Amino acid sequence: MESFMQYNPTKLWFGEGQIKQLQQEVDTHGKRVLLVYGGGSIKQNGVYDAVMKQLRECEATVIEMPGVEPNPRLTTVKKGIALCREMSIDLILAVGGGSVIDCAKAISVGVFYDGDVWDIITRKATPERALPLGTVLTLAATGSEMNNISVITNWEKNEKRGWSSPFAYPAFSILDPAYTVSVPRDQTVYGIVDMMSHVLEQYFHRTEHAPMMDRFMESVLLTVMEAGVKLVDDLQNIKHRATIMYAGTTAFNGMLSCGTDGGDWASHQIEHGLSAVYDIPHGGGLAIVFPNWMAHCAEEDPSRMKKLAMTVFGIEERGRSDYEIAMEGIQALRQFWDSLGAPNRLGYYGIDDQRIEELVHKSFMKPSIGQYKVMTRDSVRDILIRSLA
Ligand code: NZQ
Ligand code: ZN
Repeated sequence: MESFMQYNPTKLWFGEGQIKQLQQEVDTHGKRVLLVYGGGSIKQNGVYDAVMKQLRECEATVIEMPGVEPNPRLTTVKKGIALCREMSIDLILAVGGGSVIDCAKAISVGVFYDGDVWDIITRKATPERALPLGTVLTLAATGSEMNNISVITNWEKNEKRGWSSPFAYPAFSILDPAYTVSVPRDQTVYGIVDMMSHVLEQYFHRTEHAPMMDRFMESVLLTVMEAGVKLVDDLQNIKHRATIMYAGTTAFNGMLSCGTDGGDWASHQIEHGLSAVYDIPHGGGLAIVFPNWMAHCAEEDPSRMKKLAMTVFGIEERGRSDYEIAMEGIQALRQFWDSLGAPNRLGYYGIDDQRIEELVHKSFMKPSIGQYKVMTRDSVRDILIRSLA
């Protein structure tokens, strides 16, 4: 294991009915609340009413900011910053999925930055303060509810950028699995793919001896697969919703990479390139790219793919080469995602080879991507071409 420092200040309230804790959080953080949400799902499924009831009871002043897009946009972040300044907001409350939370994170740091908030998102400027942020999660996927990461798209530049800051951890997050029951099947599947991809990104590390982390990760993957397959055929099932919800948080709150080199993350960069150009759902893009990244890397070093194949997919050696076992594991992962109904090729979103060079370029929003295998432009091009078919 490598040396590490573990820090996660987000207070998690998990379980049915935990929305009642919102009142004490508002009492702690301040009564002028900016309520940030998306395209209206929270008004249809009752979450808006439940949140507003708590806010009314603790006599909060609520300023609403609806309309955060999936793949949230810089222009929306800027609207939120202006509102916070104009209305002297004390607490930002994000009610929604990863997009709403990510947008709220960028607003919370942008309020105290005099320049263009894009500087923070592109890591040219470092935030020094943030407004407190609370979240009420309605979609299990990103882990944004308990991490310090946010991903924002600048449509003028067709750039989707991830940034992080110690100031971007939510102060508290309320996770009621009942709030995710209305998530439609496709978004449920994208969420499952995304959280599995977060574990897989971290699983593809090169730290020599991290057996506890490896087994934690294998356990999260096995649990998500077991619950996920049942959930997609029984979307109202709270028991499975709860398992998936906490798995999504655990998959990306820093715990799984303690003592490792942090993993690879190139597939995420490639997916962000795809979303920046084609505005596709993050989980859908990952379902297509990730197995092709694995197949690309297995040609050089199949060791971790082999381990995954044997421990998670139950594949036996039977005298075969590491590469053959690795490829059988990759096939098993594809089949699992296919069985849920996830897309498996770029054509699903109408993407062909016309803009491949642009996609390669958009994947390199950082000077270097990939750690299990450092990507060259040729490697990314190869992965994208494999993803077409
Ligand atoms: O906008 P509303 O009306 O809320 O509808 C949303 C949206 O259309 C809907 N939805 C959410 N909760 C619902 C619901 N529909 C019915 N019932 C509910 N309870 O689902 C749609 C997708 O929502 P979105 O927030 O976009 O999904 P997700 O949570 O997957 O977030 C995706 C974004 O997060 C970024 C992605 O790149 C993408 O921009 N990521 C953020 C990360 C992080 N902060 O750590 C890491 C990830 O790897 C990822 O990159
Ligand atoms: Zn992701």
